[in-house]
Amino acid sequence: MKRQNQSSVIEFILLGFSNFPKLQEHLFGFFLVIYLVTLMGNAIIVFIISLDQSLHIPMYLFLQNLSVVDVSFSAVIMPKMLVVLSTEKTTISFVGCFAQMYFILLFGGTECFLLGAMAYDRFAAICHPLSYPMIMNKRFFMKLILFSWVSGIMVATVQTTWVFSFPFCGPNEINHLFCETPPVLELSCADTFLFEIYAFTGTILIVMVPFLLILLSYIRVLFAILKMPSATGRQKAFSTCASHLTSVTLFYGTANMTYLQPKSGYSPESKKLMSLAYTLLTPLLNPLIYSLRNTEMKRALKKLWQRKMVLHSV
Ligand SMILES: *[C@@H]1O[C@H](CO)[C@@H](O)[C@H](O)[C@H]1NC(C)=O
Repeated sequence: MKRQNQSSVIEFILLGFSNFPKLQEHLFGFFLVIYLVTLMGNAIIVFIISLDQSLHIPMYLFLQNLSVVDVSFSAVIMPKMLVVLSTEKTTISFVGCFAQMYFILLFGGTECFLLGAMAYDRFAAICHPLSYPMIMNKRFFMKLILFSWVSGIMVATVQTTWVFSFPFCGPNEINHLFCETPPVLELSCADTFLFEIYAFTGTILIVMVPFLLILLSYIRVLFAILKMPSATGRQKAFSTCASHLTSVTLFYGTANMTYLQPKSGYSPESKKLMSLAYTLLTPLLNPLIYSLRNTEMKRALKKLWQRKMVLHSV
């Protein structure tokens, strides 16, 4: 087979679930609802925390950052995905694909580190309550936040420029819902072996290490919970922990399977499903799991609501 000119690919086509047109129709409505709920849930959290001075402590400021990341992550992926689901063949320009991959890696990477920092914060608060204010002081907190964002930016910059420095000689059909590293890499006509080694090590550092630290933190937290005197307190703390762990495992687990071997032999359809798990479910569930179950957040929400009612009645 003769190779086409390297510059032949000027745009990509996102196939979505075009093998299953009926499914696409149903998914469109379903994903639209998920998108709107995600935006609303996370916006409420950002809003409540910035308005309520008593919530300006590390735990909530972390959550606020997480919600900003989740909103941005969804906004990078969902609008284009809804277009992909509602048409048969959606094109995306070279630059558009670059930008989407860049921001997915930026917000995805930042989320990985933020979740890790949040688990450490809970570990310090629950297992070392007396020295907690000293451990999580303003400076250390700001460092953790800054580290998360800078790491996200670095990962995105290195990985995206590397992937797009490969030649693409066609075909240009991406069998996926958005421009993510593994399906785009499959279209490249160069030897990507070195990149795959980088991706393997990178994923271990960015996904596995935070995940193991989180597991470790929660194991320590669980031991602390078991020593609690009150049974109801124990149950409540346990259920909080379990829901955090579920969400974290879902996110890191599916991200791992996607990125650990970018050219792995999973079928395209199962790759799409794994990507959906961490791009769709995580931003949707985070507000519910981390914030809206929380008593302080509920109190702040109620206060805000009452203030609004008072304003309306004058
Ligand atoms: C993250 O939290 C820090 C500290 O509260 C804040 O200064 C920063 O603006 C937040 N970042 C975003 C994107 O919300």
